[in-house]
Amino acid sequence: METVVSGIRPTGRLHLGNYFGAVVNFVKLQSQYRCFFFIADYHSLTTHPHPSDLHGTVRQVLAEYLACGLDPNQCTLYRQSDVPETAELYLFLNMLAYVGELERSASFKEKVRAQPDNVNAGLLTYPVLMTADIIIHRAHKVPVGKDQIPHLEMARNFAERFNRMYGENFFPLPQPLGTEGEPIKVPGLDGSGKMGKSEGEGNAIFLSDDEATIQRKVMKAVTDAGPTQPHQPKSPPVANLFTLLKLVSSPDTVHHFEQAYNNCTIRYGEMKKQLAADIAAFTAPIRQRIDAFKNDDALLRRVLEEGQKKARASASATLAEVRRLIGFRKF
Ligand code: TRP
Repeated sequence: METVVSGIRPTGRLHLGNYFGAVVNFVKLQSQYRCFFFIADYHSLTTHPHPSDLHGTVRQVLAEYLACGLDPNQCTLYRQSDVPETAELYLFLNMLAYVGELERSASFKEKVRAQPDNVNAGLLTYPVLMTADIIIHRAHKVPVGKDQIPHLEMARNFAERFNRMYGENFFPLPQPLGTEGEPIKVPGLDGSGKMGKSEGEGNAIFLSDDEATIQRKVMKAVTDAGPTQPHQPKSPPVANLFTLLKLVSSPDTVHHFEQAYNNCTIRYGEMKKQLAADIAAFTAPIRQRIDAFKNDDALLRRVLEEGQKKARASASATLAEVRRLIGFRKF
């Protein structure tokens, strides 16, 4: 069975865009591949989080992914820093990565722009650590979004360089794993592009938002003046609302509002009320599970201990071979 690895950045709460865009895919993959999913807490140190924030965000994403259906009995779910073999492999790979190629990476340049006062070496070697994450389990496939494709290309380069340098095809060259069919793009509520938490308060609906918050955000969503002719093409903000409706509402509901739009009788207020109610109904059970997991330290500890055991078994087997190939041997 092929091995899949993916990292989860511990950056706050998941929104519907994350859910339909990535999390649903992870949940599907865990029954089809040998999956390793980890919380990338080493990576997050590049931005110098406060120690209690680091712990809090790891708790949050762990609870949220469990609530969405990642099942520690089906996949290996672990915290990156619980597998120190990752750091050792990162050290070895740093000897193969050239400063020039790291400096040329578009994501590095972008981060330099974003945090000019903290251009640390960890930022420069982010793709090296990401490579270590992936090849430590000798992964074949990595489910990532478009933005991570250049990183994955660097991972293939480093893995290939290791193979060439040490004379064996030890590491598979990790390939991106797309979703079946078109990836689902979840629009935000501000009438422009996709849902994202950096697009301003109110654009994203989080899985942990309560019903009142969801309602407030949806009622404020951008629309237009309404159709004046039958079957008028929809403006982007209105098309976005219909896209959201299709994700969470019944086909009958969607049909009802499509028809109302097409014969110009639609009232956006009514549609928003329905959309808010259907989003709330969709996320309520997830939200309840998030709350339950978040407050169950014993369970979170057990999940991470179990994940660590499985991940370290895989990682230490790889490292034993890597050390031997590099030339570290017993007397
Ligand atoms: N860089 C990824 C992101 O920003 C997170 C990540 C870290 C990752 N290590 C990984 C993804 C390994 C896939 C495989 O989302």
